[in-house]
Amino acid sequence: KGGATLRLCACVLHSSVFIIANVYSGLDTLSTDSKVLNGIIKYNMRKNLDLDQEGCYLQAGKMECLEECGFNATAKTIFIIHGWTMSGMFESWMQKLVSAVMQREQEANVVVVDWISMAQQLYPDAVNHTRNVGFDIATMLNWLQDEKQLPLENVHLIGYSLGAHVAGYAGTYVRGTIGRITGLDPAGPMFEGVEEHKRLSPDDADFVDVLHTYTREALGVSIGIQQPIGDVDIYPNGGDVQPGCALGDVLAVATNFMEVMKCEHERAVHLFVDSLMNKDHMSFAFQCTGPDRFKKGICLSCRKNRCNNIGYNARKMRKKRNSKMYLKTRADTPFGGYHYQMKMHVFNKKQADNADPTFYVKLYGAHDDTTNIYVDVHDDTVGLNLTNTFLVFTEDDIGDLLKIQLSWEGDSDSWSSVWKNIKKSFWAWNTKPPKPVLEVRRIRVKAGETQQKLTFCAQDPSKTEISPGESITFVKCRDGWEVKPRKRYEKMFSLSE
Ligand SMILES: *[C@@H]1O[C@H](CO)[C@@H](O)[C@H](O)[C@H]1NC(C)=O
Ligand SMILES: *[C@@H]1O[C@H](CO)[C@@H](O)[C@H](O)[C@H]1NC(C)=O
Ligand SMILES: *[C@@H]1O[C@H](CO)[C@@H](O)[C@H](O)[C@H]1NC(C)=O
Repeated sequence: KGGATLRLCACVLHSSVFIIANVYSGLDTLSTDSKVLNGIIKYNMRKNLDLDQEGCYLQAGKMECLEECGFNATAKTIFIIHGWTMSGMFESWMQKLVSAVMQREQEANVVVVDWISMAQQLYPDAVNHTRNVGFDIATMLNWLQDEKQLPLENVHLIGYSLGAHVAGYAGTYVRGTIGRITGLDPAGPMFEGVEEHKRLSPDDADFVDVLHTYTREALGVSIGIQQPIGDVDIYPNGGDVQPGCALGDVLAVATNFMEVMKCEHERAVHLFVDSLMNKDHMSFAFQCTGPDRFKKGICLSCRKNRCNNIGYNARKMRKKRNSKMYLKTRADTPFGGYHYQMKMHVFNKKQADNADPTFYVKLYGAHDDTTNIYVDVHDDTVGLNLTNTFLVFTEDDIGDLLKIQLSWEGDSDSWSSVWKNIKKSFWAWNTKPPKPVLEVRRIRVKAGETQQKLTFCAQDPSKTEISPGESITFVKCRDGWEVKPRKRYEKMFSLSE
């Protein structure tokens, strides 16, 4: 009994002497940085959701620890790797991520890689350590392969911020190919634009998926890396402005500016946690060449693997390097929402050349209706006598879409600003401001989440015109209505998907 206790202690209490003597023995060839030798990297295998409970430590070379920790070599092995830290402590996201992983993968070996002492340094120094920490993880994985025939394809490294690049180095140095690496908003400074072998890259694992949430640039750098660096790179909300992270939103509950930055950077972790917890409501991301095209609703296709689940549920896609994908999310968990592409031909009937209409749509579904949703044209104007494509995002599941109300914001009588402008010019003699009139006969809708396509026609076929302050109601076209006009439209104004 005494022996058992002793062995348990060896795995629970860490011996830094052991670390220096064994784990780092290979490091001299890699780095001459003597600071590394004083660092301690711990592999804390979680047995309990409570992070305050010590758990059990794996040590390369110590078989008894594998047994004590209950390491199961045939189950999945998931390493969670933190990033740069100023506090020197685990941040609160760690607990949430560990607990979500453990709940989703109950048999998995969930290991927290603790390199805090090397991460709590000036940022450039912490960056300098990523290679050594990655090498250390590779050493651990090699040992597990030797001793336990651990299949590397069952290994999944999840790295946040700087931890994503640590995972990349682990993938570089390990013998064989790791199954999957997930980069959660991989760090940008000192990694943006550098060669593939100095950052996380698609070669580091069989499948490398990346969530980018804080890529907004300030003073030439962004906290999260902007460039695509995986097989699949997902940019929620364009990867720059995360809903719920605006200064006002965050300062209401936080105390300093750092919290605002953290909100967007850390959003990647929370989206990943969300994907682990809400298996029944997966969020989809859609491939697109850029955020602007996505925000215009041009990219909502799932054909040829052009959409994927985000986070843990992401599917491996073959031969698709650096494919950028986008989605919109809610501000809080569950983050998933519903995307609709709406295409409508807007005819200029009367006096609308400079009307620049502001449209709203209200969606009526089988379960629920939305409020009026602003139709964002993204620094553009609604194209007149053209087919326009818009992206409409709803937070709630309204069920099957039954009806759409299109409104043109404004008061039909108060055309004051337009009136003033026009009055100055050649309309000055007229006593009545001209009322612009547009016409929309039908709206073609594609639901991103279901890929269902429907055409909506004016409920009252004689009411297809719209002026400021007015609205048109559209319902699903009667059978037969759909096919003919659609063909004609595609010929006349063929738009890419
Ligand atoms: C190890 O994991 C495998 C696969 O998840 C599972 O079938 C097996 O029961 C586990 N063994 C133990 C001892 O828990
Ligand atoms: C990183 O470490 C190397 C030596 O290993 C050193 O020459 C270099 O100055 C370090 N870089 C930074 C930014 O500290
Ligand atoms: C659209 O077409 C209408 C009538 O066919 C025409 O009067 C108007 O000038 C056109 N507007 C634009 C912006 O092309």
